[in-house]
Amino acid sequence: MPAILLTGATGYIGSHTWLALQSAGFDVIGVDSLVNSSPKVLDRLTELGGREPVFVEGDVRDAAALDRCFELAGTRFGGISAVVHFAALKAVGESNERPLDYYENNLGGLLSVCQAMKRHGVTDLVFSSSATVYGKPESLPITESAALKATNPYGQTKLIGEELLRGLEQCDASWHFAYLRYFNPVGAHPSGRIGEDPRGIPNNLMPYVAQVAVGKRAHLNVFGNDYDTPDGTGVRDYIHVCDLAEGHVAALRYLAEQKRSLTVNLGTGQGYSVLDLARAYGEAADREIPVVFAPRRPGDIDACYADPAKAFETMGWRATRGLAEMCADSWRWQSSNPNGFEA
Ligand code: NAD
Ligand code: UFG
Repeated sequence: MPAILLTGATGYIGSHTWLALQSAGFDVIGVDSLVNSSPKVLDRLTELGGREPVFVEGDVRDAAALDRCFELAGTRFGGISAVVHFAALKAVGESNERPLDYYENNLGGLLSVCQAMKRHGVTDLVFSSSATVYGKPESLPITESAALKATNPYGQTKLIGEELLRGLEQCDASWHFAYLRYFNPVGAHPSGRIGEDPRGIPNNLMPYVAQVAVGKRAHLNVFGNDYDTPDGTGVRDYIHVCDLAEGHVAALRYLAEQKRSLTVNLGTGQGYSVLDLARAYGEAADREIPVVFAPRRPGDIDACYADPAKAFETMGWRATRGLAEMCADSWRWQSSNPNGFEA
């Protein structure tokens, strides 16, 4: 059976999706430049998946590296049936400092992946989009038909990426794309052997709270307590990374069976505040998470949560793991790997 090619395969979401695909019976080949992930992920995938991962180290902007993936899949499996394109730079703040690098990596990478698919006759692609494409939403919960707006270079790469792919489908109906708009992925594999391993100071809430819990940081800075939300702190739709990974399995099945494109939110539909999350994490880790109120972070919005109905109606997928499980699984990963993949 042809395999699924994952780009950005050793990253946070890629590694969890690799396991979810194998559990669902798919063969997988991964490519990653390791610019933001560790090769040690591959050892953990061997341990958890019971077989050595088929992996190419390379940049998706390098046509030869992508051709190697297709050739390898031809010898190891029956070729490649679809691609899941995770490879991207994802830090919003950094994207304001290095916009050209973000445009080049994220948009150049997407075009290069599509060119390789065209060379090898593959037409199904799952695109990692983001709730960031909704900008500051006009109403909540957010449906897929809400207005789209990018507010930073990272968000632009997701919005323009979607637009490029829509343009491609209009010119050539043989392409089929799943545009998956992720809300806030958190948590870790329940084994505690793989998880999120940000470099430097974490930008995102749960990895930061995890480092407070494990004693690497003194307290959580809560960015703003005067938002228009029940407790004044920002509200987001946190989704367990294993639910998100299973959403990719559902999307690949949809593309293979329905032979048409699809745009869906991957969220739970439930919003939690910064203080809700800090409290839930404290319970999971059985310790208090000290908080200090700090000014708002530029560009942040009050609240953002999905209407997840369409994903269930179209692909039969819905998130099943709650906040307590997200925190417990993150804590298992963080407490047994305080320095991430570095021993
Ligand atoms: P991640 O940084 O953990 O993983 C991305 C992987 O891509 C990394 O392993 C990195 O080394 C690799 N990569 C980057 N550029 C590459 C290139 N040119 N060639 C080859 N490999 C390259 O991030 P993640 O959280 O796993 O995110 C995966 C995707 O999901 C990204 O496209 C991201 O924008 C999107 N997304 C993430 C979130 C989130 O909060 N985590 C939310 C919405 C969307
Ligand atoms: N926050 C803090 N302290 C921190 C970090 C975050 O109070 O140290 C707050 C933020 O102000 C926000 C909430 O926690 O209210 C969540 O912040 P994150 O940075 O974890 O997530 P965002 O919703 O800001 O953004 C994330 C990704 C984006 C993506 C978006 C939607 O970083 O790339 O989700 O998917 F676009």
